Amino acid sequence: MAEYIEIDKSLSADEKYNRLFPQIEALINPDEPLISNLSNVTAALKEIFDKISWVGFYFLKENKLYLGPFQGKVACTVIEVGKGVCGTSAMKRETVIVEDVHKFPGHIACDGGSNSEIVVPLIKGSEVYGVLDLDSYQFSAFNETDKINLENLCGLLVERLEFNNQALIIK
Ligand code: SME
Repeated sequence: MAEYIEIDKSLSADEKYNRLFPQIEALINPDEPLISNLSNVTAALKEIFDKISWVGFYFLKENKLYLGPFQGKVACTVIEVGKGVCGTSAMKRETVIVEDVHKFPGHIACDGGSNSEIVVPLIKGSEVYGVLDLDSYQFSAFNETDKINLENLCGLLVERLEFNNQALIIK
């Protein structure tokens, strides 16, 4: 299996997602650790979309979201459900698109340069495993195309990979 992603950067966002999806399907391996698989997913997204300044997963455990694999600057490690964009998405169990983070009440600024954001929950049945968070230095960087495709991607991940609490053991 190829451990690289091949996508023409001049393609439209929709076309990029269309080509990314089968490559992610080939890249992830349920027999390998969750953290290894998700690390590559963040790297693939960051590599393909120049608009992304930060992309990463937060895992849910006992009403708190804990920082998982990511690409970008150092970020806050714990977010309470209901707080910030990530906590709002986990609480509502729905994707949240924020065109201007400075206008989102309670936005948690990990990187002062960030101007817009999309957060997609990782849901399987009635279970929320966490969220996928993408930030951009551009305003209004994320739209319905990103929402649909990232929801499909998260759907694939929760279907194919086992989201257990092994990554969240503290001591
Ligand atoms: N902005 C997020 C916090 C996580 S960082 O962006 C990586 C929020 O408001 O939940």
